[in-house]
Amino acid sequence: MAQFTLPKNSKIGVGKTYDHAAGAKRARTISIYRWDPDTGENPRIDKYIIDLDKCGPMVLDAIIYIKNEIDPTVAFRRSCREGICGSCAMNIGGTNTLACTTATESIKGDVKIYPLPHMQVSKDLVPDLTHFYAQYASIKPWLQSETQPPPDKERLQSKEDREKLDGLYECILCACCSTSCPSYWWNSDRYLGPAALLQAHRWLVDSRDEATGERLDNLEDPFRLYRCHTIMNCTRTCPKGLNPAKAIAEIKQMMVARNL
Ligand code: SF4
Ligand code: SF4
Ligand code: FES
Repeated sequence: MAQFTLPKNSKIGVGKTYDHAAGAKRARTISIYRWDPDTGENPRIDKYIIDLDKCGPMVLDAIIYIKNEIDPTVAFRRSCREGICGSCAMNIGGTNTLACTTATESIKGDVKIYPLPHMQVSKDLVPDLTHFYAQYASIKPWLQSETQPPPDKERLQSKEDREKLDGLYECILCACCSTSCPSYWWNSDRYLGPAALLQAHRWLVDSRDEATGERLDNLEDPFRLYRCHTIMNCTRTCPKGLNPAKAIAEIKQMMVARNL
């Protein structure tokens, strides 16, 4: 029987434990994936036992506390700290989500934190999103119109047309959905993934955009769109409560409708 094992340099080892919770009433262990490409060492899990009364309530607060007070070498991304920028996306307790909107108390037992899955890791909790953003750019996420805008006001949209963007414009490009999608794991070189496709749908349904045909042509491909097999991980994990699987299904319907 075939046996599959990780390459030697990918095996995750046991790291250090930092106990900073002496006398704490609310001690909690935060386990963090660590990998530094400059050391040549294998990845490891470091454990930080902290007093939750000494930091804010969210997982991001705990990580910032660890970096500021215990171990300044921990690398992670964050910016807005309120679920808007998408940069603190990581895998927390087995789910891709935003560290800044996940309460530490909502996780049972040790808080296990890994980078977003199936991405190249730059360092610790920082994934390399170069390809993800290139795929986003490939759907031309801007208004395309031959019609000149009115000289003295913005392009208007009816209330009903504007409502078609609800559930789409809120996407913060955190990549939680794409990195939870098995089809994206195996075919991310050619499949655009749920985040880029939700964004593609956002422009396809914008009444002011005049490039619908070209946009659909760009997606008419066995991989770019049709690798979605409606597994729904994307929708389950989206921290903004959006439904990329539905957006993808609606693009497929637009494809069918234009061929009738
Ligand atoms: S659809 Fe949701 S999970 Fe996916 S990138 Fe947008 S906000 Fe993140
Ligand atoms: S519904 Fe499609 S995009 Fe979403 S996780 Fe499943 S295969 Fe991926
Ligand atoms: S820090 Fe911006 S979404 Fe979490």
